[in-house]
Amino acid sequence: MNESYDLIVIGGGPAGYHAAIRGAQLGLKSACVEMRNTLGGTCLNVGCIPSKALLESSEHYEKAHHDLASHGVVLESVKLDLAKMLKRKDDVVAQTTKGIAGLFKKNKIAHIVGKGSLEGNNRVKVLLADGGEKIIEGKHIVLATGSVPVDIPQFPADEVRILSSTGALSIPEVPKHLVVIGGGVIGLELGSVWRRLGSKVTVIEAMDRICPFLDGAISREFQKILKKQGVEFLLSSKVLSVTKTSEVELQVKVDMAGKESEIACDYVLVSVGRKPYSEGLGLEKAGVKINARGFVEVDEHFKTSVKGVYAVGDLVPGPMLAHKAMEDAVACVERICGVAGHVDYSLVPWVIYTHPEVAGVGMTEEEAKSRGYEVRVGQFPFMASGRARAAGDVDGFVKILADAKTDRILGAHMIGAKVSEIIAEMVMAIQYCASAEDVARTVHAHPTLSEAVKEAALGVSNQMIHL
Ligand code: NAI
Repeated sequence: MNESYDLIVIGGGPAGYHAAIRGAQLGLKSACVEMRNTLGGTCLNVGCIPSKALLESSEHYEKAHHDLASHGVVLESVKLDLAKMLKRKDDVVAQTTKGIAGLFKKNKIAHIVGKGSLEGNNRVKVLLADGGEKIIEGKHIVLATGSVPVDIPQFPADEVRILSSTGALSIPEVPKHLVVIGGGVIGLELGSVWRRLGSKVTVIEAMDRICPFLDGAISREFQKILKKQGVEFLLSSKVLSVTKTSEVELQVKVDMAGKESEIACDYVLVSVGRKPYSEGLGLEKAGVKINARGFVEVDEHFKTSVKGVYAVGDLVPGPMLAHKAMEDAVACVERICGVAGHVDYSLVPWVIYTHPEVAGVGMTEEEAKSRGYEVRVGQFPFMASGRARAAGDVDGFVKILADAKTDRILGAHMIGAKVSEIIAEMVMAIQYCASAEDVARTVHAHPTLSEAVKEAALGVSNQMIHL
């Protein structure tokens, strides 16, 4: 007889492990099929967590070089031990993925290592690491296989010189010149890591601005600050070819708004987006519908076109963000169990972990205007914050948008130190339909960076105190 479960989750990333744990909490006998030996998916193994470990380490290195002296901390010499930095990153990953394995044990979730695919009739086939296979049965099957980097077919990533985000986390030397194709989140985070460690970094972006999804004012300020840090940008530019000129050298041919030029470099990072990963998942055979871009189609209950099969996370349309995937997964399993799970997709925050950090939630100014809102804007620079000056971290600002008629907050956007943490206040405020005045009248501890939020909220009605 086949092993049988109430819930089988295929994929053990942020979506998958959340689905399995929430299922177990709600009393479902749960299994999670994951083809990596470790749990946590892209995020924990080769994404969010290792990149944040390197961002943290490289920021310490840069501070030791450039900032500490201004605090009166004089270091005789600063040396980079790259091997140790990379090992620390690997240790952080190992501890974090082991933590999820511990949670699985605690919740009595079966962790099946192998590649799962739909076999029809509530069955999942698992190709095991030893070459064998087994069939398991589940009343409910949740697909959570995530996404993979988009390759450029003319020069696919070899992870030696032409890197995807995975390879860029483990370059064994500091590149002399790293060319980043795609000025989005991954390109700017990983580009920042290697620039801080000493690389020349050139970002080639097809659009006329970096991170085109950001509020315009934030995107412009972000580019200005990164440029000041030494990152070079070629905007409105397309890469025509990447050619290996020797074992260690590459030639990148670029079309810059109609003008061709060539750049010599030793590493290329391709970060032009991610696509849903459903290779070998048996979607077609099982009759699961996908859309033209390869995303699995689901209804508001995360149900696919096949009864008993659900899909969540990067595999379904929506922002490809770990926290969105986690919320999808919890809501999906709660609905399976008759609990009223819910995700407000208009309030999924985003963060870019460069220095300064960038974060936002809700509508951008451009979006609010295009949707017909009369918008009032409050904007407060960190330069005017006592805490930011004390920290020596004065770049950036907080921008809050409110509806001129009702004062209801429509969006909040920020660039500055630690805004990845500050954004949560604005998510909560908008979630509870706060007005700008509500936030402006909320007591914020002094001196804190979050006072910039209060000031920006005051700015919506021209009442800022410190400006
Ligand atoms: P992205 O969509 O953020 O950026 C890709 C950029 O490449 C865009 O600006 C696009 O205009 C540009 N581009 C596309 N084709 C190009 C070409 N041929 N030449 C030059 N430029 C080109 O994608 P990215 O950075 O690869 O990230 C993938 C996904 O992972 C995103 O959905 C992102 O949100 C997510 N992610 C989120 C993180 C976070 O929340 N901090 C961290 C890392 C990834």
